[in-house]
Amino acid sequence: MDRGGRAQLLLDQALDRVGFSERDKAYATHLVYGTLRRLRLLDFLLEPHLKAPDRLPLEVLWILRLGTFEWLSGKPDHARVSPWVEEAKRRYPPLAGLVNAVLRRLKPREAPECVRLSLPDWLCQAWRGFFGEVGFAEGFNEPAPLFVTAYRPVDLKPGPIPDSYVWEGPKRDFSALGLQPQNPASLFAAKLLEPGPGEKVLDLCGGAGLKAFYLAARGAEVVSYDLNPRRQKAGAKTARRLGLKVTYRTQDLREPLGEKAKKVLLDAPCTGTGTFRSHPELRYRLRPEDPKAMASLQLALLETAAGATEEGGLLVYAVCSLTEEEGEGVARAFLERHPEFRPEPFSCPFPVLREGLGVYVAPREGLDGFYYLRLRRVDSRA
Ligand SMILES: C[S@@+](CC[C@H](N)C(=O)[O-])C[C@H]1O[C@@H](n2cnc3c(N)ncnc32)[C@H](O)[C@@H]1O
Repeated sequence: MDRGGRAQLLLDQALDRVGFSERDKAYATHLVYGTLRRLRLLDFLLEPHLKAPDRLPLEVLWILRLGTFEWLSGKPDHARVSPWVEEAKRRYPPLAGLVNAVLRRLKPREAPECVRLSLPDWLCQAWRGFFGEVGFAEGFNEPAPLFVTAYRPVDLKPGPIPDSYVWEGPKRDFSALGLQPQNPASLFAAKLLEPGPGEKVLDLCGGAGLKAFYLAARGAEVVSYDLNPRRQKAGAKTARRLGLKVTYRTQDLREPLGEKAKKVLLDAPCTGTGTFRSHPELRYRLRPEDPKAMASLQLALLETAAGATEEGGLLVYAVCSLTEEEGEGVARAFLERHPEFRPEPFSCPFPVLREGLGVYVAPREGLDGFYYLRLRRVDSRA
């Protein structure tokens, strides 16, 4: 992680290598994700006890952060300190005493809101300005349920929208069970197209085709475009296992498309600021200039999507981001240039953070934060 790796991938690889029981795997996952989600707060709690945290070996710093997370979670002293001291003894024996002393001396400390939420100041302040409050971000620091979309009848706990369920228990070979892990907020972007049997749908920036699977299952004739053939190959394999037909085409979508349809979905690449729960390291890596740079790519992709939408057709723009730039900012800039498109209202089944021009979904109850905009092409350009 310190060298730029992604927590989700690294943890899955590590857990595949060790012979942990399912219970231990679940606890290791809770520790790693919990520590990363609250990292800024943990460092703030450690601050009064460390003279020069920057000079500590990184492994010792992580031991202290993990131990502080357990303290924050209310684990009793007798169970929580000695395992970390033993770990320090194995790695840096001279620092085991320091680990012991610091973990025993931890005290509650009043943190400013952005620190308590473990958000970078620039994003915390931008959210406060745009949404009027930032307390919703606490939702990113809670454990994430595993949602699956079902392509066969199942006996599982229902999720917040039809076809979405909650998977409880260890991970499995999901496609063999007719299931696809997917956040309901992501599934809803595909539902907004209201695909009908036999209808042609273009799934732009489709990646592996998670949204394409839902559209194909409704009987639509789906063509999924993306720049990344590796993702598409993996998607084609999953589609076959789920018994769904999706056509994949590889193209840079900053260039115009050679075909059109009445239904077009653009699930654009984004900063991922709505996905901090499942990508907990992302918030510390993003830079203040990223949302603006992403918005200019999104606008170029939306141009292509608009050109591929037939008159009278529907165009859905979605991003798993909560910034003004990538949502309303893109929508405003697009509509200024395209009077032939009108926002088409819809009712959102999730908690809403802000609505007007499009809808921002609040990252509560395990949902990813999303922005959706549904547009109707009302008139062809002369
Ligand atoms: C948000 S992800 C899509 C996720 C996918 N729709 C799903 O539901 O699983 C954005 C995708 O945009 C693709 N992408 C980024 N830049 C692109 C470009 N210039 N042309 C085409 N695809 C692009 C990425 O490869 C990535 O798969």
